[in-house]
Amino acid sequence: MPRLLVVHHTPSPALHSMFTSVVEGASDPALADVEVVSRPALTAGPVDVLEADAVVVGGPVNLGYLAGAIKHFFDQIYYPCLDETVGLPFAAYLHGNDDLTGGRIALERITTGLRWRSVQPLVEVTGAPSNDDLAACWELGAATAAGLLG
Ligand SMILES: Cc1cc2nc3c(=O)[nH]c(=O)nc-3n(C[C@H](O)[C@H](O)[C@H](O)COP(=O)(O)O)c2cc1C
Repeated sequence: MPRLLVVHHTPSPALHSMFTSVVEGASDPALADVEVVSRPALTAGPVDVLEADAVVVGGPVNLGYLAGAIKHFFDQIYYPCLDETVGLPFAAYLHGNDDLTGGRIALERITTGLRWRSVQPLVEVTGAPSNDDLAACWELGAATAAGLLG
């Protein structure tokens, strides 16, 4: 069974609602043939990534960069996964209160270095997530999981 790994840093209700929507989308009954595994970014490691067929990464942008927990995740997995996960499908969501630019650029740089393959547009939310924002998160999870079928 293909496995989707969701690596997330969820320090607030806004991010919790986004994370929950991603997991609910990926866990839709129509996608029952995909195993969904969630790991907090501060606990995720190389084995989690090596055992995954696709990854969703999500969390806040703080101080103009990816939150430290997300950076820590990438720091942990970068070299152990560098040659083993070329082409790994990934998608991502970011949350902040005003400007996500630095986080978006960092994510692009890191995933380009890893040679992962973006399979969904980045979901970017500032402020309180709207219903449309949460629907976009749901779709992100569902579409990334669906990509593992067939
Ligand atoms: C130290 C700190 C730095 C932050 N820097 C940014 C930033 O550069 N850009 C941004 O859009 N939001 C920034 N934020 C807001 C966080 O991304 C936001 O608090 C987080 O996504 C959780 O959302 P919430 O505060 O609405 O619950 C910062 C928050 C903190 C605590």
